[in-house]
Amino acid sequence: KQGLPLQNKNVLITAGPTQEAIDPVRFLGNRSSGTMGFELAKRAANLGAKVFLIAGPTNLDIVHENIQLERVTSAQEMYDACHKYFDQIDVAIAAAAVADYRPKHVAKEKMKKKAGDLTLELERSPDILLSLGKRKQNQFLVGFALETENELENAKGKLERKHLDAIVLNSLKDDGAGFGGATNKITFIDKNSQIKTFALKTKPEVASDIWEEIITRIHA
Ligand code: C5P
Repeated sequence: KQGLPLQNKNVLITAGPTQEAIDPVRFLGNRSSGTMGFELAKRAANLGAKVFLIAGPTNLDIVHENIQLERVTSAQEMYDACHKYFDQIDVAIAAAAVADYRPKHVAKEKMKKKAGDLTLELERSPDILLSLGKRKQNQFLVGFALETENELENAKGKLERKHLDAIVLNSLKDDGAGFGGATNKITFIDKNSQIKTFALKTKPEVASDIWEEIITRIHA
């Protein structure tokens, strides 16, 4: 493994959706497949890193000597797992689609249906990436942004607010980009506002591009 660009580096990656319980059998979730995060983990491991992959509920699996996969369910569990490892981490990438809101009260028993409408009260769930940005020492911290308008501006705003070193923007306007699919079209933006736009590619190719951008910057 001598000479690999990420040897002796510890990498933290979040992937997939989170599920927020309503009662013992119901949850709020989203359609994230986890593919982008798993591809980023695989690429980092093949480049020599020790990878801590924190994954929400997904059908994906990965077995690799350099990858420690930890499965979680809720945003709170993902938050706790990330903070458990963060001190020893060199590069962290938040690729998970974390639920922004969760039910304020979780019913202990399965909720019975009643006549009429039901209103669920939701509260904000923890912003994992924001909390890592606040805690950051020497870690290189990367976030994702899915924007539908003022994409560059919003992504840059997110980068600053969450104290990131770089952000990966995927535009929903681009066919084949983003959630669930096999391909993605990204723009990589660093904290110095250096911007690089890539062509539509498969997610393994996108993972490779993202790592190339990160490696240039951590070795500079
Ligand atoms: O603010 P927004 O949710 O658009 O930011 C997206 C980025 O923040 C992604 O990298 C996502 O993984 C991360 N995030 C997080 N915890 C949340 C919400 C978003 O880590 N609760």
